[in-house]
Amino acid sequence: MRVLGIETSCDDTGVAVFDTERGLVAHRLGSQSRLHQPYGGVVPELAARDHIRATLPLVDQVLREAGGDGHPDGVAYTAGPGLPGALLAGASLGRSLAFGWRVPAIGVHHMEAHLLAVMLEESPPAFPFLALLVSGGHTLLVDVEGLGRYQILGESLDDAVGEAFDKTAKVLGLNYPGGPAIEHAAQTGNATRFPLPRPMTDRPGLDFSFSGLKTAVIVRLASAPSDAATVADMAAAFQDAAVDTLAIKCGRALEVCGRDTLVVAGGVGSNALLRRRLRELGDERGARVVYPRPAFCTDNGAMVAYTGWRRLREGDTGEPAGFNIRPRWSLGDLKPAGASGP
Ligand code: KG4
Ligand code: ZN
Repeated sequence: MRVLGIETSCDDTGVAVFDTERGLVAHRLGSQSRLHQPYGGVVPELAARDHIRATLPLVDQVLREAGGDGHPDGVAYTAGPGLPGALLAGASLGRSLAFGWRVPAIGVHHMEAHLLAVMLEESPPAFPFLALLVSGGHTLLVDVEGLGRYQILGESLDDAVGEAFDKTAKVLGLNYPGGPAIEHAAQTGNATRFPLPRPMTDRPGLDFSFSGLKTAVIVRLASAPSDAATVADMAAAFQDAAVDTLAIKCGRALEVCGRDTLVVAGGVGSNALLRRRLRELGDERGARVVYPRPAFCTDNGAMVAYTGWRRLREGDTGEPAGFNIRPRWSLGDLKPAGASGP
């Protein structure tokens, strides 16, 4: 079975093909970073229009690279959560292609796709495991028993950690997207010059709150000189505080759920300091810590093709006609394959 995957939930157009025998056979990404950069964040209408323009040529390219005879046996597209217009662009194209090819189309949950991206790596983890999902819209600690069996142990009560990276970068005058910009600026910074809080680590529980961290940066900046060293030091201090907070909660979550494997995924999962800090945590706790390669931590089509393939293989049939997107959709609402449609 061969499944075409289409990701258009935010500002990246990702397209890929996953094949039962050969695995991931082709994947391409069109980034909209430059389109949104002048605005310092994603402009939803521009994102949707660009997906409409970019997706079909990418599909064409990926299908040619994948080779083989005939058309795919299924089409997976991101049905949510995400920006409504952007989701509609991928959903309508995915459904149209599936309709023309007379194959099933399946709407995939974006965070489930992030969660399963690690399965595309060598020596993928076996269920069950603990997952830390860290993206621009979500910060989730999830106990993963199996496909579609997700128990949310903790989540952000306000800004997602990726959102905090983006907003803090803006405050520091750094480019969008903020995560990579902060990571880059932090390389020459001194993380100890501005001591920042580790939000919500002084009380029990696994929820997060990152908006106060951004406010702490704003307060500290007000009385600091505005020079390049301050930007680098503050970027380093913010990154250190965010990573530390995530690591403390991951340590706690490993204890609570008793799993011996931690999977880290989502855009912030590409951060080198986070990867290092969590590896150290794993070494201390005797837990295996695994990540997708950095390019599959951030949004991509490969994770959508894989998730659609896996769900179709395990008994989901896709929706027979019509389609639905779900801009707001909790991971905790998902069911195992075969138990329900999206
Ligand atoms: O998973 P993703 O590509 O898209 C969403 O589903 O949101 O995550 C994007 C988020 C953005 O907030 C971005 O700033 C952050 O991930 N990010 C990073 C890094 N690369 C991307 N944050 C910290 N360090 C990075 N290297
Ligand atoms: Zn994402």
